[in-house]
Amino acid sequence: MKQVLQYRRSGATRVVEVPAPLTPEAGLLVQNQWSLISPGTERMLVEAGGGNLLNTARQRPDLVRQVLDKAARDGIAATVEAVRNRLDVAIPLGYSCAGTAFEIGDRVACAGAGLANHAEIVAVPRNLAVRVPDSVSLDDAAFVTVGAIALQGVRVADARLGEACVVIGLGLVGQLTVQLLKAAGCRVFGIDVAADKVQLAQAQGADVACLRADPDLLEKVRAFSVGRGADAILITAASSTSDPIQIAPGLARDRAVVVAVGMVGMDVPRNAYYEKELQLRLSRSYGPGRYDRTYEEEGVDYPPGYVRWTEQRNMEAFLDLVAAGTVRPSRLVTHRIPIARAKHAYQIVTGETAEPYLGILLEYPRLPTTEAPTRTRVDLGTASRPLPTSGTVRLGVVGAGSFARSVLLPALQKLEHVELRGVATASSPSAHQTATRFGFGFAATDWHAVVEDASIDAVLVATRHDLHARLAAAALRGGKSVFLEKPMALSPEELEDVLEAWRSSGRVLQVGFNRRFSPTYRRLRAWFASRRVPLVMSYRVNAGAVPPSSWVVDPVQGGGRLIGEVCHMV
Ligand SMILES: NC(=O)c1ccc[n+]([C@@H]2O[C@H](COP(=O)([O-])OP(=O)(O)OC[C@H]3O[C@@H](n4cnc5c(N)ncnc54)[C@H](OP(=O)(O)O)[C@@H]3O)[C@@H](O)[C@H]2O)c1
Repeated sequence: MKQVLQYRRSGATRVVEVPAPLTPEAGLLVQNQWSLISPGTERMLVEAGGGNLLNTARQRPDLVRQVLDKAARDGIAATVEAVRNRLDVAIPLGYSCAGTAFEIGDRVACAGAGLANHAEIVAVPRNLAVRVPDSVSLDDAAFVTVGAIALQGVRVADARLGEACVVIGLGLVGQLTVQLLKAAGCRVFGIDVAADKVQLAQAQGADVACLRADPDLLEKVRAFSVGRGADAILITAASSTSDPIQIAPGLARDRAVVVAVGMVGMDVPRNAYYEKELQLRLSRSYGPGRYDRTYEEEGVDYPPGYVRWTEQRNMEAFLDLVAAGTVRPSRLVTHRIPIARAKHAYQIVTGETAEPYLGILLEYPRLPTTEAPTRTRVDLGTASRPLPTSGTVRLGVVGAGSFARSVLLPALQKLEHVELRGVATASSPSAHQTATRFGFGFAATDWHAVVEDASIDAVLVATRHDLHARLAAAALRGGKSVFLEKPMALSPEELEDVLEAWRSSGRVLQVGFNRRFSPTYRRLRAWFASRRVPLVMSYRVNAGAVPPSSWVVDPVQGGGRLIGEVCHMV
């Protein structure tokens, strides 16, 4: 299937053929019909890649500090390698789309960075998908994420019927905010730096709209708010300057609310905010649930009695307003471009092709969706380097995350007698990117493609811990030798299963206890080698702290620090 990927290192945005994702355990597989380019966010991502690393460094001094710290700690060569690895990634673009769910056939709208991508097929957790009302077209529904972002901003502002609201920044989110505030019975004043956006806001129903550069701006807002100043100011601009934050106090009434929805400079003039006792609030993405793994990935909902508006319920409410005709996304569409020509869409967004734009929709071919897709493997025909004819190990890899990509695969790539046959990872971009970067013959999203491939002699398993035992046992039973990252298993039952599979296979099973080969460990071993009587030892391992959000300490995926780390030392 086709997917839009952005390559961090070169900065190129391409449409590539990647393996289709599998149906997620707690989610849906969706055949996209439309996806929306969110110009502010996606332009920023595209511009951050390639030759603009200096720009990124300027915007993210925290990352520069991390690099310098690593250089001081681990040396220049290791730091260069680590930075290279961080940059050698392909990022899936897009986070707002709509299409038809496989098997059940429902029309659904989907949200989520890295999930609701610009791709023919997307795998979306259930809390990030909503059913599209019958009267709403799928191209309108593809606005769902941007609509939920605007709606969350309005909720955070707590704008009430009849209040005077100012919207600064009239891009896609700003225009939808204007429509939502009007639907909520507010009076709306729009401000933007571009004349066409100001005109569009007026056409969307803004009571007044004017240019940021208008010398009478303050006067006009005062007149609009009948001399009181605005009740709420919603900043939906995307700008590195703090201008929106700095002009807000002059437009606001005493004790008004200022909501930062867009990414803007946050150099807040303390006195101006203090004198009017303004409340500065930040609106977080599409609503409650965002960035909570249990909500977004595992599908655990919050009770409506406690959290009335979650990101999913915001998406639903937005589509209901579209169904009622009070919000009309179609008025904001400037381009409809087939997925195969997505590169052209990004040329428009970055200004490489000079054309006015606002809502750019990518369109996908319409295919039958009664069955789940079977193209979960893509053969790349990568001509690996010439290999010696005898003694070659044809290797398959399952799981290629940070450890495999930075340590295992670069080392394996240098071995003369190893042919990298195929790689499987959970997500389509990761499988494709790993396969092309290291020269694998095929990329897959279904690990069975590796374990069941007759041309593969040995399988390397480098997934998170919960899959280790299952994958290793399946590969051994399929007649492959296995290199399994530590730990072998998370429970005695899993361990017994792997050992049983190994005993009956007659193949090699090696566990990635690499510390046993470190110089210190070797010396310790040599030191005690001649000892013939029992020894009681007490030793302390300091493996560094792991943040509580890490999968390593998740009881299901990682099993905790004792199983995952201490196994090296036992
Ligand atoms: N020996 C050592 O010193 C050492 C050091 C560090 C880590 N490790 C071990 O290395 C392993 C990986 O750690 P990591 O930090 O690299 O983890 P990670 O970054 O989370 O990578 C996990 C990989 O597994 C893939 N994956 C997840 N579900 C899958 C599925 N159903 N089928 C196929 N692939 C799947 C992921 O795919 P996506 O890319 O699509 O997400 C990702 O590529 C762990 O066992 C860890 O203990 C060992």
